[in-house]
Amino acid sequence: MKRRGTVLVVDDEVSIADGLRLTLESEGYSVRIAGSVATALSAITQTDVQAAILDLMLPDGDGLSLCRELKRRDPTIEVVIVTAYGSVRKAMEATKGAGAFYVLEKPFDPDELIGLIAHALDRRKLVAENAELRRRLVEQTADSQILGKAPSMQRVMETIASVADTDANVLIVGESGTGKELIANALHDRSRRKDGPWIKINCAALPKDLIESELFGHTRGAFTGATTDKVGLLEEAHQGSLLLDEITEMPIDLQAKLLRVLEERVVRRLGGAKPVPVDFRLISSTNRPPEVAVKEGHMRRDLYFRINTVTINVPPLRDRRDDIPILVQAFLEHYRAKHARHVDEIEPEAYRRLLQYSWPGNVRELQHAIERPCWWRARARSRSRTFRRRSSTVRRTPMKARSRRRRSRPGRWRTSSARRS
Ligand SMILES: Nc1ncnc2c1ncn2[C@@H]1O[C@H](COP(=O)(O)OP(=O)(O)OP(=O)(O)O)[C@@H](O)[C@H]1O
Ligand SMILES: [Mg+2]
Repeated sequence: MKRRGTVLVVDDEVSIADGLRLTLESEGYSVRIAGSVATALSAITQTDVQAAILDLMLPDGDGLSLCRELKRRDPTIEVVIVTAYGSVRKAMEATKGAGAFYVLEKPFDPDELIGLIAHALDRRKLVAENAELRRRLVEQTADSQILGKAPSMQRVMETIASVADTDANVLIVGESGTGKELIANALHDRSRRKDGPWIKINCAALPKDLIESELFGHTRGAFTGATTDKVGLLEEAHQGSLLLDEITEMPIDLQAKLLRVLEERVVRRLGGAKPVPVDFRLISSTNRPPEVAVKEGHMRRDLYFRINTVTINVPPLRDRRDDIPILVQAFLEHYRAKHARHVDEIEPEAYRRLLQYSWPGNVRELQHAIERPCWWRARARSRSRTFRRRSSTVRRTPMKARSRRRRSRPGRWRTSSARRS
């Protein structure tokens, strides 16, 4: 018979322990027996145990502390406490405080115990599968440039992993510098459209009188100055992804036109009657809370509903301070490599300030804060090295050569600054 798992039975009453062994073995479980806390702890170091049945009163301790210890060593172990001294308070403590799965009062029905163990192991399997799924989802995004271990960022990464390969419209909401574009890139890179076009439009940056023809394109003669046909960005995104950055800044009349494109999946160029089919995945982003934009009349409600099949809320850095050390380390390494210079570790006091600051400009501000001192140190070192080299040369060379070297100085600086870019 295929073994269904190993159960540890901890009871100092030999007859009860043997009875449990027989019942469990007849149901296909492997059983380890221990008569005390000490033997139970040594048993789990020798055997992979999935569930434990613990007596509440043991000669060298109690079942609750043992339960806590087992859970501490392996949080996936499911524990059933059996007791002849069951009281409501103890039972509550056992299930909630110590992480036991259930409390059973002696004498108990063997069928009930078997049912409980089966249920506990099913639950354990489910929890393990869930954890594995989450781990794989997070792993899929781990190779991206998005850094962050805070639970809120892990949730962002899980969402990216689960929606990237769908065609769902995604709305990314977050303050400036939180990484919205980085997330949008990850969504495109992980989609089946990754080899197609990746078109990004900043709705706040395009001049109002240009945005319509930029988005929708135009035909020759559509307006004064339209000397040729022009393919709009919506058409360019065909078979790829389209990022509408700062979408709440799009003029309201164009929002209606965009909505029609999203519903009908065709674009009509300005001045052109012929509809052109388009197939793109829409990613939008905004650093203005979209509900507020809708309420204040900056965004059409119907467009808002259309673009946010999935919303990704990117938390500001001040709400995930645990990520600051990871980001600092990553940026330090990046800039060390970029400037090809040795940079000292950050001094403890400066580091403490990095951790405490509120970072209103979020990750971008932190990134710049790390780059700046790197740059200066790199430059300072290069300058002092140049000076050192020059002064030693100066000591040895005659006057004529010295002035020649002085003239070559800008060249040296260009060399060192070229490394910076
Ligand atoms: N989680 C992160 N891990 C690593 N780098 C990050 C992360 N978040 C942001 N960055 C970096 O911070 C900078 C700003 O990110 P990004 O441009 O994606 O922000 P944004 O939310 O689009 O900002 P804005 O609203 O101002 O356009 C980028 O250089 C990006 O690489
Ligand atoms: Mg951006």
